[in-house]
Amino acid sequence: MSKFDKTILVTGGAGFIGSHVVRLFVNKYANYKIVNGDALTYAGNLENLKDVQGKPNYAFAKIDITDEAGVEELFNQYHFDAVIHLAAESHVDRSILDPLAFVKTNVLGTAILLNACRKHWNGNYDGKLFYHVSTDEVYGSLGETGFFTEETPYDPHSPYSASKAASDHFVMAYHDTYGMPVVMSNCSNNYGSHHFPEKLIPLMINNIKNNKPLPVYGKGENVRDWLFVEDHARAIDTIFHNGKLGASYNVGGFNEWKNIDLVHLLCSIMDKKLGRAEGDSAKLITYVKDRAGHDLRYAIDATKLNKELGWSPSLQFEEGLEKTVEWYLSNEEWINHVTSGDYQKYYDVQYEKR
Ligand code: NAD
Ligand code: TYD
Repeated sequence: MSKFDKTILVTGGAGFIGSHVVRLFVNKYANYKIVNGDALTYAGNLENLKDVQGKPNYAFAKIDITDEAGVEELFNQYHFDAVIHLAAESHVDRSILDPLAFVKTNVLGTAILLNACRKHWNGNYDGKLFYHVSTDEVYGSLGETGFFTEETPYDPHSPYSASKAASDHFVMAYHDTYGMPVVMSNCSNNYGSHHFPEKLIPLMINNIKNNKPLPVYGKGENVRDWLFVEDHARAIDTIFHNGKLGASYNVGGFNEWKNIDLVHLLCSIMDKKLGRAEGDSAKLITYVKDRAGHDLRYAIDATKLNKELGWSPSLQFEEGLEKTVEWYLSNEEWINHVTSGDYQKYYDVQYEKR
């Protein structure tokens, strides 16, 4: 008999959002055992979770979700009550260069996990849950006006969003076909600490700091809707505990920014923090070739999550950005390890290989 009320597999827990979810759950729920299952790809970094390592309700398992036998073995070891599934290839630009890697992890990996739940739970779904974390990019691209709601038809354009859309459909197919208890959320762009510096905000912060060019795709007119990552983790907590089975919830902060305006705001924050003259960092802005198939605008309508489950974002964007910039400036070791590749040695030092 386990001394924990629930044993939860968080896949992708060593990544950006996953590490915030693991931290929140480990610290908030001493009665849950949280198993972070992660393949530690280039995006997985156990240094993100130094502060929870060693806690009695936390464990790490190095697992590739596309390895069916390995996943089965993990389920036999832990008898999970729930899965919070975040493991994915997550970067649109990489998906353009290597689409099949996205099909493999995001589509096949999700199907393998769902199937492991189906086999392991064997129709006894009492207290069980598969929570799938997805993106607003499955809805495609908006024009100048309008919002994505949960009813917006799927219309993905990039290999990344197409693979996430396929995985979303598999999750709902397991609900409809096998009666599996599932819940899903589709979130807008996240920002915050521990974000791999290939995505817009951490890349710009790092380049501004190092006086490197700031590559703005196209004319910088594309719009993204930004949410503080800890608010996303709180939304996942809320939906995990109170979401309706078979439902999906849009998560977003009603916080749209044109890329170029956002980059200017970051430059201005960084000028102040680094003691540069106002306007100095903005001189680094360099317009570069646009991304192929670049979606113009994302904007999430998160009314359902607010009305039904009472969640709302906690931070204003400027406040969240300041916090984020401060985190990057005071965590030089983290960024140095990530850019040098040293973070990938952390696992070998801290954990025995399976
Ligand atoms: P990330 O790239 O930072 O982290 C992904 C994690 O998954 C890494 O730790 C990586 O090692 C792990 N992983 C990758 N392939 C794996 C495999 N085959 N087996 C096991 N683990 C594997 O991603 P993120 O930004 O934290 O995104 C997490 C989830 O949230 C993804 O599903 C993504 O689609 C979704 N999402 C992200 C955003 C965003 O703005 N970043 C917004 C909405 C939804
Ligand atoms: P990104 O952080 O890759 O997230 P996503 O593509 O999933 O929305 O990019 C956010 C926006 O910033 C997107 O419109 C592409 C743009 N962008 C740049 O202009 N320059 C860059 O170097 C990067 C990485 C992104």
